[in-house]
Amino acid sequence: MFYPFRAHSDFWYLTGFSEPQAVAVFSEGKYIIFLREKDAKTEIWNGKCLGVDAASKVLGADLAYPISALKTQLPQLIKAAKNIYYDFKPCPLDDEIMHCLALTKTHSFAKYLHEMRLIKDDSEIASMQKAADISVAAHQLAIEQTKPDLFEYEIGAIFDANFRKHNATHAYEPIVAGGKNACVLHYIKNDKRLNAGELLLIDAGCEVDGYAADISRTFPINGKFSPAQRQIYQLVLDAQLAAIAAIKPSAPITAPHKIAKQVLKQGLIDLEILPTDGDLTQFYMHGTGHWLGLDVHDVGNYQQNNQDRKYKIGMVTTVEPGIYIRASDKINPIYWNIGIRIEDDVLVTKNGNRVLTVALAKEIEQIEALMQKL
Ligand code: GLY
Ligand code: MN
Ligand code: MN
Repeated sequence: MFYPFRAHSDFWYLTGFSEPQAVAVFSEGKYIIFLREKDAKTEIWNGKCLGVDAASKVLGADLAYPISALKTQLPQLIKAAKNIYYDFKPCPLDDEIMHCLALTKTHSFAKYLHEMRLIKDDSEIASMQKAADISVAAHQLAIEQTKPDLFEYEIGAIFDANFRKHNATHAYEPIVAGGKNACVLHYIKNDKRLNAGELLLIDAGCEVDGYAADISRTFPINGKFSPAQRQIYQLVLDAQLAAIAAIKPSAPITAPHKIAKQVLKQGLIDLEILPTDGDLTQFYMHGTGHWLGLDVHDVGNYQQNNQDRKYKIGMVTTVEPGIYIRASDKINPIYWNIGIRIEDDVLVTKNGNRVLTVALAKEIEQIEALMQKL
């Protein structure tokens, strides 16, 4: 079997190169790339590769060598260096090279690189907007085309087709969860029939140019929210909007989770689903967001100097509160098996934030109108 190759995100970020068997070395102001040599026979089977001769021009490297030269070149480069920055865990190399690195005093560079990856520049934001737009369009089609008695995988196929149409892939295993399946947070079987009267929760996003989108929407399979579904949906939406409003430069990154929890807790108390002193985590057991970028759960510390860090322009976070109510004799049956998450992707800007996925319907009336379209 052959599997698609995806470069490690750190490597992609530094080089924009996505062939296997490549090593980049940055030494004394020079960028040196080691890569596969061109080989006519291999290219018959596997297609063209960049090759050493074209590498400097295409990748902007100062020097390019065949990967086979790493064994001899790397010890020399290491010998000449005062400090070596290398992260062993994500990128193990051949034993011989690992041994050579292990003899030197190495430091992690991830902690520096990941701070860079956390702040997106204009070209990264353009790629993330592209990933958002492709994912929004697929979600919109899925909402329009959902009807009772289809299977979850049929709706899942809308994402497969529409991502591939744009040369995008799934950024993560999609969740297409009808009814009570939505209360299983990592439900990925996506193989059950969709029943009228139940909700469908979809968490799906594409990766394009290496960058991910991460979107969740929840809507009624028969196109109309029941009164109980409407109550819980509006509550999650209110929490999500409040959380998004809390995102701006210098605000603590814990603010969205804090406000989302407050809104959800009060709402569930008002609906008599949760006692005043009740534990919200039985209905809301995950965080309100995570960094988004080359990885879906992107790199970047959430704390700095043992303190919650503050938002900065160029950070991108998801905002994804939810409520999941499993059947229980302590809860009014009208609420059983309601699982709702609403997730958008938010860029921190000078004046506050920009929701990259804003084009996708999420108000109750918008969703119901979209479902009447076909
Ligand atoms: N889709 C993964 C997440 O929402 O974190
Ligand atoms: Mn997410
Ligand atoms: Mn998600």
